Amino acid sequence: MTTTLPSSTDHAALRDAANRHLFVGMTNAAQLAEEGGPLVMQSAEGIHVTAMDGKRYIDGISGMYFRNVGHGREEIAKAIYDQLSSVSMNVYAGATPATIQLAAKLADLTPGDLTRTFFCQGGSEANESSLKMAQAYHVRRGDTGRYKVISRKGSYHGSTYGTMWLGGHPGFPRTDYQPKPANVVTVSAPHTYRNDFGATSPEQCGELAAKAIEEAILFEGPQSVSAVIGEPVSQPLGGVVPPANYWPMVREICDKYGVLLIFDEVITGFGRLGTWFGADLVGVTPDIMSFAKGITSGYFPVGGTIATAEVADVFSGGPEKTWSHMYTYSAHPGGAAAALKNLEIVERENLVENARVRGEQLHERLEEMKGKHRMVGDVRGVGLIQGIEFVADRKTKEHFDPSLRVNARLTEKLIARGVWIRVPAYIVPIAPPLIITADELDGLCDAVDESLGEVEKELGV
Ligand SMILES: Cc1ncc(COP(=O)(O)O)c(C=O)c1O
Repeated sequence: MTTTLPSSTDHAALRDAANRHLFVGMTNAAQLAEEGGPLVMQSAEGIHVTAMDGKRYIDGISGMYFRNVGHGREEIAKAIYDQLSSVSMNVYAGATPATIQLAAKLADLTPGDLTRTFFCQGGSEANESSLKMAQAYHVRRGDTGRYKVISRKGSYHGSTYGTMWLGGHPGFPRTDYQPKPANVVTVSAPHTYRNDFGATSPEQCGELAAKAIEEAILFEGPQSVSAVIGEPVSQPLGGVVPPANYWPMVREICDKYGVLLIFDEVITGFGRLGTWFGADLVGVTPDIMSFAKGITSGYFPVGGTIATAEVADVFSGGPEKTWSHMYTYSAHPGGAAAALKNLEIVERENLVENARVRGEQLHERLEEMKGKHRMVGDVRGVGLIQGIEFVADRKTKEHFDPSLRVNARLTEKLIARGVWIRVPAYIVPIAPPLIITADELDGLCDAVDESLGEVEKELGV
């Protein structure tokens, strides 16, 4: 079959070709075709993206929770260009100055004695690497039976074969990928709005959720458990912030049973919560931390896993200690150059602090919306990862009947107001770039507020 390439300036032809030839992740091709095709981007600057039809939108979830320094940063593009123009890739068993500098920078920025980094290309690979590192760590110490991984409902840790069964994201059903692997153990999350424990206070919820992890370790047999993995604050259910006692208790439990604690900081790392890392916010240092997205703000696909000296050191010594793990494109110097420049911008523009302050503003605006709109069941989150859970009934917390297409209605209203957020099942996620100003954030919140009001009117809420 001969396919004519669509011109890069012909919007209609591009959308048509996309509908025929492209898998657009996590979307339904027929549904996208009904909408005319995916948003084809023409340009992007700051917090805005402009589609080829000339419509401009606020990027309400930072691409996919990665565009921390905003769009259109020429200095990052230039850093990548300069790097690739000199050394464009490693050789086997080699490294480049940029990669080494980045690893040293991460040892500096991350809490505790997290010190040695393995680089990869994204969040799923980062978590794969963390899980493999944890299991290999135990094996090196002679603990060969530890292969199970405990994760929490409502979390998302990636879409590769080794990560997709972790957590439990309502938007990612696993029905196509049976059977569930034998190493996966899932427990309830410290979700104060919808807790599985019947807890009546946040402290009790935190305690019972931590104890659920201990119970799972005991039930499975401590000698079979390799690691607990979790995001310090999880995004899929709209910024679930655990009660303050939760992570310190989980840390203690892990230590008690020799289980490693892995933080998935793929979204929370590099400032989004108003602290450099979620670990800083919750006051707990993990043994291993996965990261991706915000390290380059998405200008180059980079992820990684950083381990404490204690974990990393078990892989040093004779050849038998080697950690047998790699990806061809690990530690790409272009990615390292992008990350170094991106982190320089985060520091220079004080974006971690901006995320904290704007996060407070966002929280106030969301609370206001909760007071005003009956369909708002809960508002939650911290920094620039927050969300609204919408419900049909505040008392029962029942969700709307899917046939009412409430999420699609909200998406349409937001798009009409120049905000690009595709609303999933029952959460409006709000996670703009960390550069957002007070006025821009107010504009974004006004659009969400008005969209809720309009949908309520349509539904007669
Ligand atoms: C917390 C978390 N972990 C892991 C991943 C997977 O990252 P990637 O899509 O880069 O593989 C994501 C992606 O959204 C994520 O949010």
